[in-house]
Amino acid sequence: MAAQRETALFWTLLGRCRTLVPGQSRSGWSRRLSSLPPPPPGPWSSLSRLPYRDLYRLSVTDPDRFWGAAAAERLRWMEPFQQVRDCELSRGEISWFRGGKLNVSVNCLDVHVEKHPERVALIWERDEPGTEVKVTYRELLETTCRLANTLKTHGIGRGDRVAIYVPVSPLAVTAMLACARIGAVHTVVFAGFSSEALAGRIQDAQCKAVITCNQGVRGGRLIELKATVDAAVKNCPSIQHVFVSQRTEKPAVMGELDVPLEEVMASQAAVCPAEPLDSEDVLFLLYTSGSTGKPKGIVHTQAGYLLYAALTHQFVFDHQDGDVFGCVADVGWITGHSYVVYGPLCNGATTVLFESTPVYPNPGRYWETVERLRINQLYGAPTALRLLLKYEDSWVKKYDRSSLRTLGSVGEPINHEAWHWFHSLVGEGRCPLVDTWWQTETGGVCIAPRPADPGAPILPAMAMRPFFGIQPVLMGEQGEPLSGNNVSGALCLSEPWPGMARSIYGDHQRFVDAYFKQYPGYYFTGDGAFRSEDGYYQITGRMDDVINISGHRLGTAEIEDALDEHPAVPETAVIGVPHDIKGEVPFAFVVLKEDLPDAAAAAAVLQQLRKLVSTKIAKYAVPEHFLVVKRLPKTRSGKIMRRILRKVAMETTGDLGDISTLDDPSVVEEIVEAHNQYRKQREEKKK
Ligand code: WTA
Repeated sequence: MAAQRETALFWTLLGRCRTLVPGQSRSGWSRRLSSLPPPPPGPWSSLSRLPYRDLYRLSVTDPDRFWGAAAAERLRWMEPFQQVRDCELSRGEISWFRGGKLNVSVNCLDVHVEKHPERVALIWERDEPGTEVKVTYRELLETTCRLANTLKTHGIGRGDRVAIYVPVSPLAVTAMLACARIGAVHTVVFAGFSSEALAGRIQDAQCKAVITCNQGVRGGRLIELKATVDAAVKNCPSIQHVFVSQRTEKPAVMGELDVPLEEVMASQAAVCPAEPLDSEDVLFLLYTSGSTGKPKGIVHTQAGYLLYAALTHQFVFDHQDGDVFGCVADVGWITGHSYVVYGPLCNGATTVLFESTPVYPNPGRYWETVERLRINQLYGAPTALRLLLKYEDSWVKKYDRSSLRTLGSVGEPINHEAWHWFHSLVGEGRCPLVDTWWQTETGGVCIAPRPADPGAPILPAMAMRPFFGIQPVLMGEQGEPLSGNNVSGALCLSEPWPGMARSIYGDHQRFVDAYFKQYPGYYFTGDGAFRSEDGYYQITGRMDDVINISGHRLGTAEIEDALDEHPAVPETAVIGVPHDIKGEVPFAFVVLKEDLPDAAAAAAVLQQLRKLVSTKIAKYAVPEHFLVVKRLPKTRSGKIMRRILRKVAMETTGDLGDISTLDDPSVVEEIVEAHNQYRKQREEKKK
């Protein structure tokens, strides 16, 4: 009976997949599966309404069968794969769909153009409301081919790295897909990063080219992107070409390396053969922060990443054919990669590219956009919600939100107030609100309230359930897996899944050390989690020195490195402290050289430090607080005791815990005193 039920579920999975991408050639996998009993007759109901428990069980008890079937039917293969997975987590060796050949751009474009060429692929919601631009699948395929041909004629080919420094726009999507078409590896750099941060990424990836535009437009302001790229490439000898698109009227000042993109693309053919790529060829690098060292280039590959992005996009958000999917993330982050670009396009969705801010020209912007574009799923970061809920409810209520079906939150813990506001006010209590937990490294959502069994409740501010194939394990202090419920521990995932990162570019050992060493045989997420009485998961936050500012992840060590470059600063320590809207902000403890003449000189140094962080990393990384201290609390072996700094900043010094290992315990009093002064000054300023 159980076996029959499993088979039926399994066929339903195949059937659902088949209706999404009809007419595709059947691969070796599905041929072998045709020995199964025929699928039950009748229309296929939405998979997300199938018993989640059964489907989840299948995904973990027989992952080869689950993922093999999904990959065979959901993706178009040029050559079928021979093996579903071959993974050895303790060595960080991860391989999915070996032997298969495919092209990601074909799966995101050509398969849909064959079926519905005039369907809108992208709605570019430009900064000025009401000026949106729609791009059909046919148009997107054509421009992707023109850009792919442009890259090829400039000597860029399979395996070459290309940096994309472009705000949310059709150009960003076209550039990513053009790289995918010819087998080049893209690395999108968030267009808010400074020239030094951009240069660091280009150097690490040894990029051959950059794709950018003259200026960006956001919140009514112009951003000089080309100037930032010019400053960056001065220190990047690997760059041979800078492709410059015209986002605004202002002509870019063109230098030796620069290629006017639109002009060159116009003379290129609108057809470009797609390179057959191995499942495990690199699709993109995306740099992200860790607790130590420089940002790391997380490596994602072709088939597994695409399949996982597409499947999570469909099931977590209940995406259905014809829906308009609105993920307001920037393409410079993983959320933009998986849920603005790859997941939605692989599913043939209409995806919204949101160029603006939640408060431009007013705090009704999101909801006015929902009404105008008839958005069905809205997915964004809690930081924006915390900002918006401070305004009058009328900013939400005056717009028609009846098109909304699912709401989603990502990137940081969502607090109860924001959750209830989003769910009750925005979603009128009728839309499931999914708090999705995942990471740059996981490729797609790993824990989320949906999919679930029909009628299953969603608990506020909880990620709740593992996605198909995901097996969360909580580890105790001795590194032992914790059994039972009502427990907290280090969140690990015990089995590989297709969307997981494959390496850190150029440093596989760092990959192994960062994710697989602490708990051998497990992937360690860096986050802590709680498993509730009912077995649901709640993320409790990072366990390392990574902080989350407005949903943007940053290592405190990166900020310290920038601050320490100042000649008048011998030493600093940065921690994260809670913030009403941004979630967390950096708090810097700074030791200044003793020979500074007066307070004015010290204030000038602090100003220079702000500038330094902004130019070395980005504006959002600039610490909100600077506290000048004579020295930092250190253990006898010279390690900074950040725990004490956190307590000082949070004003919870009543319970300092064990400070017996401090080199000189009197340092605590000194710092508390400095902090009291600082707090008084801030309060006076506020008055
Ligand atoms: C945090 C973003 C709580 C977490 C997709 C993780 C979350 C880091 C959630 C990854 C959530 C992400 N609840 N915390 N729903 N989602 N995080 O790589 O600490 O930019 O490790 O990926 O964000 O950030 P990243």
